Amino acid sequence: MNSFNTITSAIGTSLLLYTSYKLLNTARLYLRPSGLHRYRYTDVTGQRPWALVTGSSSGIGKNLAFELAEHGFNIVLHGRNPSKLETVRDELHLAHPDTKVRIIVADASQCHRPDAVDFAHIRDEVASLHLTVLINCAGAGPNPAFGGLEKYGPHTIIDSLHLNAVFPTLLTATLLPVLRGQYRDGKPTSNAPTRPRPALIINIGSVTDDGFPLVSFYSAGKSAVHTLHKAIAREAALDGWDADVEIISHRVGAVTGVSHTQAAPSLLRPDARTIAKAILARTGCGRKSVVPYWPHAVLQVVLAILPVWLVDTIINGAMREERRVQDETAKNE
Ligand SMILES: NC(=O)c1ccc[n+]([C@@H]2O[C@H](COP(=O)([O-])OP(=O)(O)OC[C@H]3O[C@@H](n4cnc5c(N)ncnc54)[C@H](OP(=O)(O)O)[C@@H]3O)[C@@H](O)[C@H]2O)c1
Repeated sequence: MNSFNTITSAIGTSLLLYTSYKLLNTARLYLRPSGLHRYRYTDVTGQRPWALVTGSSSGIGKNLAFELAEHGFNIVLHGRNPSKLETVRDELHLAHPDTKVRIIVADASQCHRPDAVDFAHIRDEVASLHLTVLINCAGAGPNPAFGGLEKYGPHTIIDSLHLNAVFPTLLTATLLPVLRGQYRDGKPTSNAPTRPRPALIINIGSVTDDGFPLVSFYSAGKSAVHTLHKAIAREAALDGWDADVEIISHRVGAVTGVSHTQAAPSLLRPDARTIAKAILARTGCGRKSVVPYWPHAVLQVVLAILPVWLVDTIINGAMREERRVQDETAKNE
C-alpha cells in the first residue's frame, strides 16, 4: 500500500510539475513584445511596406488589415466580392488617410481554374509593391456549417478544400520568390535578393485542424495548410533563409464578430479585433505554430493533458450542441 501511495504521489507531482512548466512556457509567449516592427521598413525609394491580407472583406482578415494600417503598413485587400472590398477600402481610408490600399478580387474556391484565379497576375500586381507581409486568412466552413461528411455534395467539398487549402498553398508558392526578393519587374532574378528583407508569412489556421467532427473537410483543409506552413518554415531553415522570412501558422479558436456570428464576445469567444491584435502580437515568438490568444492556449494545454476519451467526449459534446443550435435556428426561420 505504501509503495502504491509513493507511486501515485510521484505521478501526481510529475503531472503537476509538467503542467506548471507547460503553463509557464505558454505564459512567456504571451508576455514578450511583438516583432512586427521588423517588417515595417521602407524600401530604397522610401516606399512604406505593404501587407497582403487574403479574405479581408470581413471578420478576422478585415481586422488584421486595420491593425496593420494602424502599424504603418499599406494594405492589399483580397476577397471575392468587389463592392464589399471597396467598402472596406473606404473605411480604411477614413480611419487611416495616409494608408494606400489596393484590391485583388479572386474567388479562392475556384483557384484550380486559371480563368478564375490568375496567380501570375497577382504576383505581378504585388511584385511592384514593397511587400513585406503575406497573411493567408481567406477561409470558411460550408453551408450549413455543421453536418456529417455524407450530407454534403462533391462540389461543396471540393470548393471548401480549394478555398481552405489549395488557394493558400498556390498563393504562398507564387509569392515566396517575391517575398524573398527573387522576383522583380515581371521576371525571376538570380537567387541573390534584389531588395531589402525580411518578410513575414502568416497562416490563419484553426484549432479544429485536429480532426473535429461535423466540420470534417473544413478541419482537413485547415490541417493541410497548417502542415504546409510548418513544412516551409523548416525548408527555410534547411536552406538557410529562415532569417529572411518568418513563417508562422496560427491555430485560432472560436471567434465572434465574423460573418457567421455576431454573438457577444466572451473570454473563450473573443471578437475579431482581439484575435487580430493577438495574432500580430505573436510575431517573432520563435514558434512555427502558435495559438495566438492566451485563453485559447490555456484550453489547449488543459486538453493536452486530459485522457483521449475525455477530450473526445468534450469535443463531441460541444459540436453536438453547435449542430443542435444550427438545426433549431433553421427550423425557426
Ligand atoms: N471565426 C472563427 O471562429 C474562426 C476560428 C478559427 C479559424 N478561423 C479562420 O479565420 C479565417 C477568417 O474567418 P472569419 O471567421 O473572419 O470569417 P469571415 O468573416 O467569413 O471572413 C472570411 C473571409 O474570407 C473570404 N472568403 C470566403 N470565401 C472566399 C472565396 N471563395 N474566395 C475569396 N475569399 C473568400 C470572405 O469573403 P466574403 O466577405 O466575400 O465572404 C471573408 O473576407 C478563416 O480562414 C477561418 O477559417 C475562424
